[in-house]
Amino acid sequence: MTLRDAGPVGTLRIAPSILAADFGALAQSVRAIDAQTDWLHVDVMDGHFVPNVSIGPPVVQSLRSHSTRFFDCHLMMTNPGPYLEAFRSSGADGCTVHVEVGGTATLLRDARSLGLRVGLAANPDTSFEKVAPFLGDIDLLLLMTVFPGFGGQSFMGEVMTKVQEARREIDAQGVAVDLEVDGGIDVATAPVVVEAGANVLVAGSAIFAKPEPLEAARALRESALHAR
Ligand code: DX5
Ligand code: ZN
Repeated sequence: MTLRDAGPVGTLRIAPSILAADFGALAQSVRAIDAQTDWLHVDVMDGHFVPNVSIGPPVVQSLRSHSTRFFDCHLMMTNPGPYLEAFRSSGADGCTVHVEVGGTATLLRDARSLGLRVGLAANPDTSFEKVAPFLGDIDLLLLMTVFPGFGGQSFMGEVMTKVQEARREIDAQGVAVDLEVDGGIDVATAPVVVEAGANVLVAGSAIFAKPEPLEAARALRESALHAR
């Protein structure tokens, strides 16, 4: 399956998280926000790395025929390695693994060799030093602004020093890495994360839990653009 283009590195992107959408009407939900979607963020939870279970490759495959957007798959999994190929063949364009699960060099190499865009994620209490050695091997750094596992949690402003640190280092090294934030992003926090240096904004509740998700996504983009 041909991969979809992620677009130019470093540009502002809104990545609606389908975790907050109605799983009984996923295709309609995704279509309804398409005009304001740069990437579609797919949260995969294994019940081990996080205390929740969500979706896997079959859902990615089903959604694939309803969207031409870049599928940004966030693998909150203790053992993502054996599943990378299944995500790739189901229609994932990028896969992000968590640094906390270990075996990072191998996971990044495996994802790369499958042709996926490669992401590395860090929890709020994981230091930048843990991900820094991999900056040259990734396309995306995801800094969680909540502890992963559930949508609708409160944004953790204290992560902004790490976002600033990551932005400084990405720019200093001149690496082509997108800086993504995920958790509690809404019209109030979007300018804060953009100001700190993030360029990809994941948002679940702030889009899908609103009465008019398309308008909510547009408002989110607008608030982020004001900070740039
Ligand atoms: C949290 C997930 C997020 C989640 C964000 O574990 O990784 O992508 O969907 O949800 P909101 O935007 O509601 O905080
Ligand atoms: Zn996520």
